[in-house]
Amino acid sequence: MRILIVGLGALGGVIATRLQAAGIPVHLAVRSADSAVRLKAVGLMVTGAGGEASAAAAAVEPLEAYAGAEPFNLIVLATKAQDALAAASALPILLASDGALLPIQNGFVPQMVSDFLADSRVVGGLSNLGATMKSLGVYEQRNAGHLLIGELAGGESERTARIAELLGPGVEIRVTRNLRGAVWSKLLLNCSVTTLGAIAGLTMRQFLALPEGRELFIRTYDEALSVALASGDRLERMVVEPMPPGWNGRSIPGPAFEAWLGGILGFYGDIKASMLQDFEQGRPTEIDFINGHIVDLGHRQGLPTPINSAITGTVRAITRGEAVPGPARLAGILGDAD
Ligand SMILES: NC(=O)c1ccc[n+]([C@@H]2O[C@H](COP(=O)([O-])OP(=O)(O)OC[C@H]3O[C@@H](n4cnc5c(N)ncnc54)[C@H](OP(=O)(O)O)[C@@H]3O)[C@@H](O)[C@H]2O)c1
Repeated sequence: MRILIVGLGALGGVIATRLQAAGIPVHLAVRSADSAVRLKAVGLMVTGAGGEASAAAAAVEPLEAYAGAEPFNLIVLATKAQDALAAASALPILLASDGALLPIQNGFVPQMVSDFLADSRVVGGLSNLGATMKSLGVYEQRNAGHLLIGELAGGESERTARIAELLGPGVEIRVTRNLRGAVWSKLLLNCSVTTLGAIAGLTMRQFLALPEGRELFIRTYDEALSVALASGDRLERMVVEPMPPGWNGRSIPGPAFEAWLGGILGFYGDIKASMLQDFEQGRPTEIDFINGHIVDLGHRQGLPTPINSAITGTVRAITRGEAVPGPARLAGILGDAD
């Protein structure tokens, strides 16, 4: 069985290292010949949750160098969302006719890849595994998470079971019959927890302690949930039930809501948002695939999304260097949206 991992950043690096260390050979595709040479020289190492592991990066090439190679049975696409379609266009010819392409980006990127390629070999994935890249080839696994995979059209299939078997020796794989519902539930948390934490430069616990942070969290989540429900997908439980207790288009304050919020805080309350790391390192964010996606969908559904729109605008302004993250931005977003 031939496996190719495209994108040796945080997530691709952890998956590649753990598979190789478990004795499963993988081919690796990086962006440039220079990165390939450097990665081959330093090898792969993971620390953190799941224990230390290291492996050689023997088969590593820039993606275009795989043209004409023996077909792969599984390709894991582990780039950022904004790079996924460009990288994906090179992949169908590298895949065996009965092979599978597994994109694992946040949001509905796997669906976008499938639509873009019009190729039934695309299988859906999302990551509940947290990882950071410290330098090329050096990764930290931040939790004992798993990859969730499933058919984009829903239901069970023999090939998702086969992928779970292939990757299982390296990372925990769970298979769902309702991937779209799981993607939605994670997206709702990304829209509210991750993006607001990045904008405020605070953890969720810290920004929820501010009245404007709390109001913004609730309004962002409620707005995104309205869009999710209008899509017709059945949302899956992820960390908490996706519908806050008694939700009627708006969250209802009270002890049941506080308990629901406590469930999210217990999981995400003290984590530094990955988007904040993007700001700090001057990298583009995935905002167009998170809150920006809610705005696009809301527009198509005729649902107003002023809060998610103001959030998306704020993140773009920070990325352009026209604003800086900080708690003061939260009140600014509420002002822009009203
Ligand atoms: N990290 C996490 O904890 C985590 C958790 C859940 C979900 N996710 C999702 O998983 C996806 C990947 O995240 P990440 O944190 O691993 O991102 P990352 O660290 O930025 O890694 C992405 C890698 O893809 C490479 N790449 C981009 N285009 C390429 C191409 N055409 N050919 C070969 N390599 C290419 C990038 O190279 P360059 O550096 O040269 O651009 C980079 O090394 C994102 O959608 C993210 O939201 C991540």
